[in-house]
Formats: sequence, structure tokens, C-alpha cells
Amino acid sequence: MQYPTTVTAPTFEHHRHALGIGEPAPRLSWRTLTDEPDWTQRAYRVRIAGADGAILADTGRTPGAESVLVPWPGPPLVSRDRATVRVRVWGGADDTPSPWSEPANVETGLLDPADWSASFVTPDTGDDEGALPAALLRRDFRIDADIASARLYTTGLGVYETEINGVRVGDEVLEPGWSSYHHRLRHRTHDVTALLRPGPNTIGALLGEGWYTGRLGWDGGSRHHYGRRRALLAQLELHHTDGTVRTVVTDSAWHRATGPVLRSELYDGEHYDACLEREGWSRPGHDTRGWSRVSELPPPTARITAPTGPPVRRTRTVPVREVLTTPSGRTVADFGQNLVGRLRIRVTGTAGHTVTLRHAEVLEHGEIAVRPLRRAAATDTYVLRGTGKPETWEPRFTFHGFRYAEFDGWPGPFDEAAVEAVVLHTDLERTGWFDSSDATVNRFHENVVHSLLGNFVDLPTDCPQRDERMGWTGDIAVFAPTAAFLYRCTGMLTGWLRDLAAEQLARPDGSVPLVVPDILDPPMGGQPHALWGDAAVLVPWALYRETGDPELLRTQYPSMTAWIACASGHGAEGGGLWRDPDQLGDWLDPGAPPDDPAAARTDAGLVALAHLVHSTDLLADIGELLDEKDDAARHRALAARLRGAFADEFVTPAGRLSSDSQTAYALALCFGLFPEEAQRRHAGERLAHLVRRAGFRIATGFAGTPLICEALCLAGHAPLAHRMIAERHCPSWLYPVTMGATTIWERWDSMLPDGSVNPGQMTSFNHYALGSVADWLHRTVAGLAAAAPGWRRIMVAPTPGGTLTRAWAAHLTPYGRAEAGWRIEGATLVVEVLVPPGARADIHLPGGGAPLTRGAGRHVFEVPHVADGRRATVTGHPFVAGSDEDCGCGSLGPGAATPPCDPRAGGGDTRPRPGNAGPG
Ligand code: BGC
Repeated sequence: MQYPTTVTAPTFEHHRHALGIGEPAPRLSWRTLTDEPDWTQRAYRVRIAGADGAILADTGRTPGAESVLVPWPGPPLVSRDRATVRVRVWGGADDTPSPWSEPANVETGLLDPADWSASFVTPDTGDDEGALPAALLRRDFRIDADIASARLYTTGLGVYETEINGVRVGDEVLEPGWSSYHHRLRHRTHDVTALLRPGPNTIGALLGEGWYTGRLGWDGGSRHHYGRRRALLAQLELHHTDGTVRTVVTDSAWHRATGPVLRSELYDGEHYDACLEREGWSRPGHDTRGWSRVSELPPPTARITAPTGPPVRRTRTVPVREVLTTPSGRTVADFGQNLVGRLRIRVTGTAGHTVTLRHAEVLEHGEIAVRPLRRAAATDTYVLRGTGKPETWEPRFTFHGFRYAEFDGWPGPFDEAAVEAVVLHTDLERTGWFDSSDATVNRFHENVVHSLLGNFVDLPTDCPQRDERMGWTGDIAVFAPTAAFLYRCTGMLTGWLRDLAAEQLARPDGSVPLVVPDILDPPMGGQPHALWGDAAVLVPWALYRETGDPELLRTQYPSMTAWIACASGHGAEGGGLWRDPDQLGDWLDPGAPPDDPAAARTDAGLVALAHLVHSTDLLADIGELLDEKDDAARHRALAARLRGAFADEFVTPAGRLSSDSQTAYALALCFGLFPEEAQRRHAGERLAHLVRRAGFRIATGFAGTPLICEALCLAGHAPLAHRMIAERHCPSWLYPVTMGATTIWERWDSMLPDGSVNPGQMTSFNHYALGSVADWLHRTVAGLAAAAPGWRRIMVAPTPGGTLTRAWAAHLTPYGRAEAGWRIEGATLVVEVLVPPGARADIHLPGGGAPLTRGAGRHVFEVPHVADGRRATVTGHPFVAGSDEDCGCGSLGPGAATPPCDPRAGGGDTRPRPGNAGPG
């Protein structure tokens, strides 16, 4: 039987769209769509055509199964090159050819500094201390020849929007985003052909402060981290039909003025006076009296580079769900979802009337709770123009984290239909999904997704609402595996990793900044911090596991080795024993007092050395992978020494740890830190005991949270992990959901059970770190994981348990959609697996036995599910919190993967685990 087989248009490197990329030889990936069972690719053919249609490369039929990151088969591209790529494949039982794919276009940006003839132009003198109004910049020009195509290349010091002839260029928000401006400045490429016309034309830009000059940092932060003068670099290249090219660039011929945006800051919000609008300012014929010339700036030292990931965009709008009148009589709109973005309003009123919008994530005592915002005003004001017609407004250069907005000064009765929330984030492709029979667990998972999006506003941040919003390295270090499953974020994160490396390698000791881009002043920024610094290894590793791309490891290799050298040489004792009192350790352990989030029950030195061993293990593996044999051997030996030091310092001969805590055991079990098997078994039982004793409540902070469930499974206590996930009392993963959370909170108890906001400073309602357990839901509960980096080999190993009667995960792998799900139907456990074309799955069915290997297609298995006495009672939450006698395991019974929980038994799940923690 012949199955229709088609191929997706190829993608380039890790880009979603390939206009303005920086790679001269972008690797190609494609996916095959076919229903043919067991389909694998036998050969492919790639054809590359140039902008003029001439064939630049044709591989002919090339035997091979490669379809992911296939080397560019054509001549290297230079700046501005355009090419069209098509692919076809042969495969399946009959070696059936596919038709050619749809064409995919790729175009490079400006790859060489010499490509820029534009100058940075600034509207600023550099003398201002306070917040600056956004500047309008403009220039008129004429077009006297027919245009074949036109490109606008831009970057800036600040944030900007460009316009041509009164029309907004592109749909990016907060362009060019936040990179480590001292080192890297990203430019964007826009196709502006359709915006130009013969005769007079105008190009303009609105230039705001953003991260460049605006206030940044905690404790009030400070302005001018990067400089005092904002600037724009714009180069418009007009390609005429006769082959000639004309360039319109930023230079001293541009004019500047101020307009209606009187202040726009990331933390504090925007103040817009519509009476100051300059009608038609970016159109030809605008009266430029009162405008003055810009100044040219010397080029910054940073390298101007093409982006590796997508920009921030508006991705959806959310209507008002409910309008509330607070006890103090204020009008508050509830959007039903804690989100990141800003409001768009439509108002009619008299000139000069002001509407004020304040934003907050939660209500406290019925009023918007702004204390957690610390010193971020998060307030936008709009002064009406008063034309008599509805005026529509959305701030431009700010964003807020909010679910509630308070309106002051709304003219007339508040009109909820005239308000919507505009959601902003890096425009990533969704690739991961999870569902189960427990609606609360599902809502928790949805909250993880929302927190990911809210904190992926161009870079991975800690939180989106208060006076921080920085690239805290530790947060993404623990969240990267979850993020890589849920969204295609490799492009975005590899760019951020380049900044991390640039910042780190500029430091004499190779320490990784706590935040990237680094804006913290010493001493906070100065010294190495475990886990936060381990982001240098853990984030690339997570991306490598997702993509199988060794090049991203190669690029980060100097950064990884520098971090391990720094961390292992650290401390007066050497040997990697970190004794600094200033480690962040298991940050936000629920037992830590509100005003001291680092005061965890787990010794920070233990957390630090455990991570150092783990990162050194990974680095040794990476060295082998990259054929850096000497390094690999050196790091292997170092890891062995550090393991010894860990055991000497923290492990008793019986297998207890000096910190008798969930986090300590989770780290040591997942990172393989027990010299003896007997110690490991003992530690697994001790962990189970601690979990039971805690009444299945969580007792981990940033360090232990991603690992605790995995550790319980490794120790043969999967039912306890299920039980912890199902827990609803505080602290637990589901407690916030029971309190109405729609995002992941920074603290286990950001909102206290009485509805008041935690008094601690660190109280955001949108921090993804504690959501990192979603990785365990995907890989272990649903059982869908990459068996080897890149997903060509998939591991399906479902772990039914607890109160769940079904669970399911799906992932858009580089080969196509994979799924793993299970459901209990009476006495039968049905396991369903979808394997994408070109991949194979090793399927470990609950109940043991050798794994089954299956190729492309949907596969359904049925195994006995014996509802023993215990399981039959597992509806709701029958377990006695705090009882050491009741294992609370909701055991799977005979035939299940995990034996019924016996506190004394060392037993365990002997199936291989697709750990994100362990090497390989
Ligand atoms: C951030 C955290 C971060 C921590 C470390 C906080 O202010 O919000 O997420 O990792 O500081 O000190």
C-alpha cells in the first residue's frame, strides 16, 4: 500500500523564521508526514536556489536518515543573500519518494561590521538624570527609480519602533530586546518593500529607554547601566529593478523631537499625553519646524550580530472577565489570568483628561496588592486628546505582570468592552503538552506554561512584575528541561547563553554572573554562586538533550570549562568545598523565614558541591562528545575527586546526609553521590521517610524541587512522588492552584492560606522555578522522554500511580509529534504511544519485561492493571498526613512497575529512567 508522504518546508538552524539570520551555512531540518507504519528515511535531496532562481546547490539523492540539522549543502551565504530551499525524501518499505516540500526562504542579515554605513544617532545630550521622553526621529527621502525590494536593518541603544510613511515596520515589541549590550547588540531585518512608493518617502523611529538607560535592578535599582545616550542605527537598502542599490541611513541629517510619550519605563510604566501627538510625523510633508538635528555617536564596542531566536510579539489579547468594585470603591478589571503584557484601551472624553491604569497580580483584602511590586510603579497614564472620537491607546515601551488592573479617571461609566489585555512574550512555537485525569494537576501544568511565557520576554527572567525582571541564571538552570519540552526555545536561549559566556569570560575568575545580562554591582554580582553559575552547563545540556545539536555545546564549551575551573578552585580548602556563607543554596526552602530566603534547612555547601560534581560529570561527557579527550579525562578525574570530597564531608557510612532534608537526598540520589549501593538504598528510604513525615508536603527550594520526584522514583518510591504531586495543603505544588493561582508562584506560600500576601520581599506570583517539576510529569508520569539527545530515539516509560486514572504528554520532536499516554480501564491499563516518522521508541510497559521497540505510527498496548485494595480506595486524598505508618503510596499492586511501598524495602523501579539529571 502506498501512503501519501510529504515533507515540511525546511527550517534553518534553530530559527522559526529565517529573515535576517546570522549563520552563513545554516543547517537544515525537516519533518516527514506520513501514515506509513515504521517509516524511516532512506535518502534525501536538497535543492537550493538563489534569489534569481539559479540553482546554487542540488545534493541529488543522498542516502541517509538525517533530517535534523543537516549541514548546509550550498556555498556559504554572505550578507543579504537570499535563497530558497526545497527538500524531498525517500523512505518506507517501498523507498517511496515524497514530492518536493514547499519552498523555505532564508535570508542573511548584515554579517560583517563593514556592512553598516549608518551611524548611531542620538536625540540625547547625556545630561538628563530622570526618565526621558521617547524621542521621535525622522528623515525624508525620495525614490526616483523602481524598487524591486527593500530591507531595513536596525538596532539601537534603547528600545524603538520604526515607521515608514506612517506605517509601523514589523510587529516586534521592545526591539531590539535586551542583550549584554557591552558585548552583543542584535539587529533585525525587515522586508519593507511594500511600504515604499515613488516620490517622497519618510522613515521615522520612536526611541525609548528600555533596558539601556532605564531604571534597572532591585532595591530601587539605578539608571544608565549601559550609557546615558540612547541611539538608533538604521540602514534602509533600496534595491532598484535596474540592479542599483541606494541606502538611506541614520546620520546627522535626521531630525528629532519629543512627542506624546513623556515617560516610558519598564518598571514604572508609561505616561502618554495624546495632546502632544504630532500628526503624520513619519509621513512626507510633515512640518518639521521645532525639530532639531540628532547627533552622531561613535559606534559602540559591542559586536552587532543577528538574532538567534524570535523577537517579542503580541501573541493574543484577553478580555476583561469581571469588573469589580473594591471595598474602597475603586474600579478593578479582572482578566482571569495572571499574564504579562499591557492594556489596550479605547476611551472618549475631553482634552487633557487623564486615565490612570495600575497593575497587580493579586488582590489582598479586596484591593490590588502592589507591595509585591516593590519599587515598580507599574502605572500607565493616558491623557486624552479629546477629539470627540474614541481614542485607542496601548503603551509602547513598558510591560507589566498582572491579572488585575485598577482604573482611575475613566470618563463616564467604565466600559469593560473598551479594555483588553495584550499578551507579550518571545514568539516561540509550542512543542509540549500534558493532560491527566486530575483537573488541578492540569491547571498546575497550565500555570507552568503561563509562567514560562510571562518570563520569556526576550530573555529568561525571574519574574515579570516587580523591580527585577532580570536573567537570573539559577532560575533557568532548573527550569530549562521543562522549557525545552514545552516550547522551541533553543534559538532564544542560545543567544542568552552567548551573553552568559561573554559576561563570564570577561571576568578574571571565570565566575558566572548571577544575572545575565549582568547589571548587579559587586559584591552581589562578584563571587561565584553554585547552581546559578551551573546554568553555564545545565542550560546548554538541556538544550542539547532536546535538539541533539553538538554545535551549541561546542559554542558554550569555553564557558562551561571556565565555570568548572572557577567553581572547583573555589574556597580556601580547594577541592571544591564551598564554604562561603553567601551561597544562595536551596533558595526559598519553604522552611526559610519570609525575610531570609537563603536560610534553607539544607547546607548550602552541600547543595554547591553536589552541583559541582554533577556539572563536572556532564562536562566530562561533553568533552568526550566533542572529542576533547584530554579535557574529558581531566574532568572525569576531577569529578571522582569531588565525589570523594562530598562523601567525606556530607555522607555517613550508613548513607545519611549531614543535612537530613528532602533536597539533600534528592540531589545526592539524582547526581549519584553515594559511594556504596547500600548507602544509596538507605538514603532512598530516608528520603521516603522524610516525605511521609512531612505529610507529603514539599520541603525543597530551587535546588531540590526539580529533583525530588525523580529521586523518589530512583529510590523505588514513585507512589510517594505521586502522593506529593497530589498534595493540596501548603506547601505543595497544588496549594497555589487551590488558592486560585493561574501562574507558578515564587514562594510555595506567596499567598497565605488566609488570603493575605506573604510578608517577604521575595513574593512574586509569576516565577517559573518551582514549576520545574513539570519535567517529571512529562518524562515520568506520562512517560515521554528522549532516550538519547535529539529525540530520534524516544523512551516511553509511563508511571501510573496516585489518584490519576490517566495521563498523557505530547511533544513536537524534531522528527514530528510524539505522544505517550496511559489510562486505566477497569482491570486494564491501556498505553498509547505515537512515534513520529524517522524515530523509534523503546517502550517500557508498567509491569516489567523487556522494552518493546516500535517505529513510526500509533501503538496501543494493554496490560493488566490490578486494582488492589489500596488502589480501590484511592479516590481523593485518603492518606493520613504525617503518618509514618501509612505510606500513602496508592500502590500499583502486582504487575506494576513499582512494588507496593514498603518503608523497609529497598526495592525500586529497575526500569531505566530517562533522567534529565544524569549524564547521557
Ligand atoms: C530572584 C530569584 C533569584 C534570586 C537569587 C531573586 O530576587 O527573583 O528568582 O534567583 O533573587 O538571589
